[in-house]
Amino acid sequence: MGILQQKHIVLGVCGSIAAYKVAELARNLALEGALVDVVMTEAAQRFVGAATFQALTGRPVLNDMWDLPEDGVVGHVSLGTAADIIVVAPATAHTLARFAAGFCDDLLTTAVLATRAPVLCVPAMNVQMYAAAATQENIATLRRRGFVVLEPAEGRMAEPMVGKGRLPEIATIEGEIRVLLGRRNGPLRGRRVVVTAGGTHEPIDPVRFVGNRSSGRMGYALAAAARDRGAEVTLIARPTLLVPPAGVTMVPVETALQMHEAVLQACEQADILIMNAAVADFRPVEAATQKIKKDGKEELMLRLVSNPDILGDLSQRRDLYKVGFAAETEDLLANAQSKLSRKGLDMIVVNEAVATIGQDDIQATIVEASGSVLPLPRQPKQQAAESLLDAMVHHLNETLDAEPETSQ
Ligand code: CTP
Repeated sequence: MGILQQKHIVLGVCGSIAAYKVAELARNLALEGALVDVVMTEAAQRFVGAATFQALTGRPVLNDMWDLPEDGVVGHVSLGTAADIIVVAPATAHTLARFAAGFCDDLLTTAVLATRAPVLCVPAMNVQMYAAAATQENIATLRRRGFVVLEPAEGRMAEPMVGKGRLPEIATIEGEIRVLLGRRNGPLRGRRVVVTAGGTHEPIDPVRFVGNRSSGRMGYALAAAARDRGAEVTLIARPTLLVPPAGVTMVPVETALQMHEAVLQACEQADILIMNAAVADFRPVEAATQKIKKDGKEELMLRLVSNPDILGDLSQRRDLYKVGFAAETEDLLANAQSKLSRKGLDMIVVNEAVATIGQDDIQATIVEASGSVLPLPRQPKQQAAESLLDAMVHHLNETLDAEPETSQ
């Protein structure tokens, strides 16, 4: 189940031209199953109509503190107390100032003052208003009090001016909401998770490489699913056209040797390693420094040397929960079980290689160190990532519960 399902999200919309962009955020959150209560400031209502948000969220838009439904006896306060998160986007200089001063003269400021949930402010305003000492001091005050205030994006503003003050991408805001909800009560909060994704490229010369068909989609989805469960996630992968999930630290690598080094380093502090990358087993002995010319050759011999086994090098790390992946073309279970024990894994996920690599869907089977085998249905990789993370959390908790207590 997605992390946004049944979450109470108060979305405070203030009077900025960026207000129209937030309609998409409201829609995305509602489509993911969140209960989105939009609260508009008076100024916001001059930029976008309440009907827009009402239609997108399927819930009444709340604007007036004195005009709440009957069931809200302590309505204006209960909005804040019942929220899982309050998101203020766009947050104007004026509303940030009101939060900093502790005002509660409308529904949004009252909800913010009364809440114990995380408050995420997404400023969007004129460049100079953002840079003004008053705004900067208000933001510093709010951050000191635990508010999360995103940095605005740079670029062309509505008025003919370029600078810092634009609303960040909706995907960035959504990613931050997921991070905050996960860290509040996600099952992996406090855990550091390293995820590898995609295939490595082993250079033959400056323009050619030895590689494989892995797209990286599964690994990216696993990183997002771990983030949603509250983990601090490092994603180690070769940069591709895929957009890294917001709120995840991306470590770009190209080759197996670079991935080896990056994984060992990231795992020094990690609790969980999800090794989804399709690491090239071999690399050219040396890469030519200039493009190899055909020069009438009928044959070209490439001499390859084996790459280090990254998971294998971590097999002695008993404190690191390790998940491997096996994409096989035959004897799926037997191959998976032998890799699991050879590499000292806690869990291995096996799938048929040809039907999966580079595809949208996956039929994965989970094999645990205990020998238990759990086949999952064929499903989109994003959904499979959710199921795999749920299974990992379950297994991790069981493993920790079963560990003998260390003597004091
Ligand atoms: N793996 C790794 N380092 C490598 C090769 C693979 O850490 N050099 C990891 C993969 O990320 C995966 C698991 O080991 O999680 C199994 O990968 P796979 O390529 O199937 O295993 P190999 O040991 O390379 O076995 P083979 O290629 O012979 O099937």
